[in-house]
Amino acid sequence: MNQYSMIKNAVILSLVILFTTACSSTGSQEHTQPTKTGLQLWADNCSFCHNHRAIDSYSDAEWDVVMMHMRIRANLTANDARAITEYLKTAN
Ligand code: HEC
Repeated sequence: MNQYSMIKNAVILSLVILFTTACSSTGSQEHTQPTKTGLQLWADNCSFCHNHRAIDSYSDAEWDVVMMHMRIRANLTANDARAITEYLKTAN
């Protein structure tokens, strides 16, 4: 192996390393996103036991009542329940 091809290999290797670290840091950013949106939480948690109920079939006040019951059924944290309720109220 002459000196030129060693340099070439080193350049290629460092490009590969750069590329891999760039990719993995993007990936970990996705994982550390602090919270899911109300829509995501609703999609994840609210069709376990029954189909999604049409969002526009309840008023804001009715969604409050529904969420008091369903929060317990779906075993949601206060923050998640709040996010889902807020989403439901903006989409009804
Ligand atoms: C552990 C099971 C379970 C989960 C999870 C769950 N539900 Fe329910 N849900 C039920 C049961 C049981 C009923 C009452 C029986 C019925 O009406 O089908 C119900 C009824 C409802 C009703 C209708 C109330 C009525 O009087 O007809 C709505 C609306 C509803 N759920 C919304 C939700 C939402 C929003 C979520 C997510 C936060 C959720 N549910 C998660 C079990 C669940």
